[in-house]
Amino acid sequence: MNKTSRAVSSDERTASAFARSWNTLPEGSVYTVEQFEDWMAPLNQSDFSGKRVLEMGCGNGSLLIHSVSWNPSFLLGIDLGESTQSASSNLRKSGFDNWKIEQADMVGFQSDGFDLVYCIGVLHHLESPFEGLCSVVANVKDGGKFHCWVYAKEGNLVVRLLVEPLRKLFSKFPWWFTKYLVATPLALPVYAYAKTLSALSFLSFVKRLPLAEYCFWIAKREIAFFRHVIFDQLVTPKTHYIARSDVAEWLGRFGEITPDSIYVIQRNGNSWKFGGTIHRGGAPSQDGRTSAME
Ligand SMILES: C[S@@+](CC[C@H](N)C(=O)[O-])C[C@H]1O[C@@H](n2cnc3c(N)ncnc32)[C@H](O)[C@@H]1O
Repeated sequence: MNKTSRAVSSDERTASAFARSWNTLPEGSVYTVEQFEDWMAPLNQSDFSGKRVLEMGCGNGSLLIHSVSWNPSFLLGIDLGESTQSASSNLRKSGFDNWKIEQADMVGFQSDGFDLVYCIGVLHHLESPFEGLCSVVANVKDGGKFHCWVYAKEGNLVVRLLVEPLRKLFSKFPWWFTKYLVATPLALPVYAYAKTLSALSFLSFVKRLPLAEYCFWIAKREIAFFRHVIFDQLVTPKTHYIARSDVAEWLGRFGEITPDSIYVIQRNGNSWKFGGTIHRGGAPSQDGRTSAME
């Protein structure tokens, strides 16, 4: 088995595990508008409106449901797994028709290019996150943007120590066992911890407790969301925790990203959002957009 086929089969296992998570959720988005906007920032509606937009690794379309309401000219969601079924069903109910869902591997995916490609919560589950990023960048058209979000190595020590052994074990169990007999009871103490930290956030020492910033964020949601996040963590066979230095090093490998457009932003103390503007040929202008050398 060569490197490529090994990588694909590992990603397929991940995608089929996620499909079990996504296809057993109630219909609609699992995210609030506030969560969507937070994930997308520093991008905003002006980066979507009238633009061709691609989401790589779209799950059940929870982000697409919000994206489509920002009026892209066309929205494509791809996912390797069968969560494309629930994504299609969710998008059909959105009332918009300028979208398409495809079951496809994001690694090596080829298109005519999009004004915006975003990839949220996917790269860290791939056999090769950098190969995934190459595909994100390759599908952005000249002058377009990309935006990614990954788990950080920094700020996740407790998760790496406690969740990783559980993931290695329970990702091999039947999904219903992991969801109802592991994630459901685990959601209770995690919910209590997050709510307590959030209620005591005015105390300065609380901000230094493990996952404090993340808890302030997730404590706004109901317990079902906690169970979804925990199940999502346990059901997937592979997770990389990515250091800021790795993100910076990856971005530095792409000659086509306009250097002054690059951002790497810490989110909730335990993850990274990063992105930039693509420029192929021609000189980049001051605002980071392409001015073709004609
Ligand atoms: C944590 S989910 C994120 C879904 C969505 N972006 C969101 O934030 O709600 C990760 C998704 O990536 C998909 N995935 C994993 N490997 C993939 C690949 N090689 N190509 C396309 N999708 C992939 C999984 O099937 C899963 O739906």
